[in-house]
Amino acid sequence: MALLVYGANGYTGELVARRAADAGVPIVLAGRNEPAVAALAAELGRDHRGFALDDAAALDRALSGITVVLNCAGPFSRTAAPLVAACLRARAHYLDITGEVAVLEALAGRDAEARAAGITVLPGAGFDVVPSDCLAAHVARRLPGATHLALAFSAGTRMSRGTALTTIENAHRGGLVRRAGQLVRVPSGWRSRRIDFGPELGARTAITIPWGDVATAYHTTGIADIEVYVAVPRAVRAGLRAARVLGPLLASGAVKRLLEARVRRGPAGPTAAERAARASHLWAEARDAAGHVAVARLRTPESYELTSMTALDLAARALRGELPAGFQTPARACGPDYVLQFPGVARQDVASQG
Ligand SMILES: NC(=O)c1ccc[n+]([C@@H]2O[C@H](COP(=O)([O-])OP(=O)(O)OC[C@H]3O[C@@H](n4cnc5c(N)ncnc54)[C@H](OP(=O)(O)O)[C@@H]3O)[C@@H](O)[C@H]2O)c1
Repeated sequence: MALLVYGANGYTGELVARRAADAGVPIVLAGRNEPAVAALAAELGRDHRGFALDDAAALDRALSGITVVLNCAGPFSRTAAPLVAACLRARAHYLDITGEVAVLEALAGRDAEARAAGITVLPGAGFDVVPSDCLAAHVARRLPGATHLALAFSAGTRMSRGTALTTIENAHRGGLVRRAGQLVRVPSGWRSRRIDFGPELGARTAITIPWGDVATAYHTTGIADIEVYVAVPRAVRAGLRAARVLGPLLASGAVKRLLEARVRRGPAGPTAAERAARASHLWAEARDAAGHVAVARLRTPESYELTSMTALDLAARALRGELPAGFQTPARACGPDYVLQFPGVARQDVASQG
């Protein structure tokens, strides 16, 4: 029984690998950059496997003896499909930390195959979407029959290199909301709303963003109208409005390469001290046709820190055979209260109205 962490040499993969080694979880470190993966594996005293994802036979060899794959290599639009296909062949559980809507929906579409193979497919095992998925399930539980769901984040940290590259990869696609159960394209930063994140952070202006919950919260709650917001400073809001005009330009290879080169020159992600000092805040509102409203807030550790905790915990549950087969969201697999077990997580209900 072993957990293979793919992309273990990346910023987030390394956080997960170190946490797993500290916790004594049996892991194998993997990635396409064999020297980097081997160096970390040697330091942690663990085995490693170096392989890229474009050779199905090599992938099959690499997954022999593996019970669970935790994919930390993004953009997941490039890595999820070959790894899930290999997991279906190997009958290994598949988890990842994507927040990409197209990837989440594609994996939801593999539910029947996953059930037939007896494996769990659980994407979104990181900051997006574990806490928000649990909070969505919680407000839906408080207001049965809710028709509308709004979720909001204040991430309270800076992006890792990989998150920035994934954002650039998807920037030209614009925004997304869910309407009557369907994903609907909207412009970047389409709507804004003042969100009260509670006493520590206060009220912030947030704009719609096409994060993973537009996909997953529907599968978790069945609520058909969903908007996801992120709190951003005024300058970023202006930048996003500009991105509406720049959309076609962002899709062009030259502009993308320029932005990617800039990100690659920057730091890998927040430092350990930054991760320890910062916190993230979330907010959720369920609303029904009669105007009843249920609101709740969540405070969590810094988002990359929480990602390493939740991704490892869910992978360890898969390793112990505790997760149901088929496509799963975190709250569907583990319930609305799942996130409350992690240190530094606190939930607060705001009085229901209506
Ligand atoms: N949803 C969430 O809450 C959450 C949280 C954290 C991270 N993420 C996502 O996780 C991903 C990784 O973030 P990060 O900060 O750890 O990035 P990073 O430091 O840039 O690491 C990326 C890792 O993915 C590997 N990789 C990238 N493209 C690949 C491909 N086509 N085939 C095989 N391996 C590939 C890289 O391998 P090389 O070293 O060989 O390039 C590296 O190991 C990003 O997509 C980010 O958005 C999501």
